[in-house]
Amino acid sequence: MVLIAPSILAADFLHLQQEIKAIEDAGADHIHVDVMDGHFVPNLTMGPVIISSIKKVTKLPIDVHLMITNANCYIDTYIDSGADLLTIHQESSLHLERDIQKIKSLKAKAGVALNPSTHENTLAYVIHEVDLVLVMSVNPGFGGQSFLPKTVEKITAIKNMLERVGNKNCLISVDGGINDKNAQSCINAGASCLVAGSYIFSAHDYQKAIKDLIGG
Ligand code: DX5
Ligand code: ZN
Repeated sequence: MVLIAPSILAADFLHLQQEIKAIEDAGADHIHVDVMDGHFVPNLTMGPVIISSIKKVTKLPIDVHLMITNANCYIDTYIDSGADLLTIHQESSLHLERDIQKIKSLKAKAGVALNPSTHENTLAYVIHEVDLVLVMSVNPGFGGQSFLPKTVEKITAIKNMLERVGNKNCLISVDGGINDKNAQSCINAGASCLVAGSYIFSAHDYQKAIKDLIGG
């Protein structure tokens, strides 16, 4: 089964509660929240205040993607605000193993994201203990960019790494430029979660857009 995580970066912020209800009704599995700090990536988005507001109006798990420097300093803050899954970037963590353990000790699922230029082998010594690997299929910072095709082989490589260590429950999530043209190649390669922003929120019918993504 493939999970769908709409990225609310592409939602209508003036009607966020209605947008969340609409994606819930359309069959979304997670709500993906992109946190950007203007340092790690050249864009600034939302923070814990918005996440705690979202938490009040949904039962779906909140999947927070931190694109910030010094992510280790904000782990408690984002879990307190309502993150059920908390993903930090490999590139912004000096002590990745420690940060993963901290997220898990606070009872959230621990995710690690990889920029397109970062090799999957950088996860070799933590792959057994992560709950989610977020494979970036665009350079992070903005919605609406084009999918980078090299992502597909990286998904397969991560799937093989997870199999080798017997980490069966770890999600492989793919994020950036996902649409009905490239989703199937990601699923075939081993992706178990698709993050999609502009593809879903620019559709007239969110339910149909989600069905078309998973080939249903
Ligand atoms: C990019 C973000 C993505 C983005 C996806 O830095 O991490 O989650 O919102 O948006 P689309 O699907 O429009 O590429
Ligand atoms: Zn994201």
